[in-house]
Amino acid sequence: MSRAVFPGTFDPPTNGHLDVIARAASAFDEVIVATGVNQSKQRLFSVEDRVAMLTEIAAPYENVRVGTFDGLLVDYCRAEGASVIVKGLRSGGDYDYELQMALMNRKLSGVDTVFLPTAAENAYISSSLVKEIAKLGGPVEDFLPPAVHAKLLAAL
Ligand code: PNS
Repeated sequence: MSRAVFPGTFDPPTNGHLDVIARAASAFDEVIVATGVNQSKQRLFSVEDRVAMLTEIAAPYENVRVGTFDGLLVDYCRAEGASVIVKGLRSGGDYDYELQMALMNRKLSGVDTVFLPTAAENAYISSSLVKEIAKLGGPVEDFLPPAVHAKLLAAL
């Protein structure tokens, strides 16, 4: 059985993340969407809020569940029996950053990383940009699942 972990901050989850969830759900027997508990980054949403949003948007996919991790991603993969990490790629910049982590994670643990190129219509979406636009009063409903959009407006 193939079990994959799709890790991220998901602050908040976007249409780009949802696209990766859907495609990973088709590619692997089981997918764990795992949000990091790391406190070093400034977050808009608590880990509980991020888990709730991810659980809601992943609900249509029976083979997807949501988890949290603290510490090394490869330790979480090992604990969950996952042999693959899934990452979405939007650009060459993403690739340069992600390739280094993928190589390091494989060296540390043998866990391999599979990259899914983002759908073209999501290539310019990032959680950070969406938050910035929303905070400044701009429209962001095109970039977020409806349930997440409502929670983002409520959080501002
Ligand atoms: O949403 P992001 O910022 O792309 O998520 C990055 C994340 C959480 C996937 C990455 O920072 C991560 O894997 N952190 C866990 C700590 C770890 O394992 N560090 C070593 C990476 S080689």
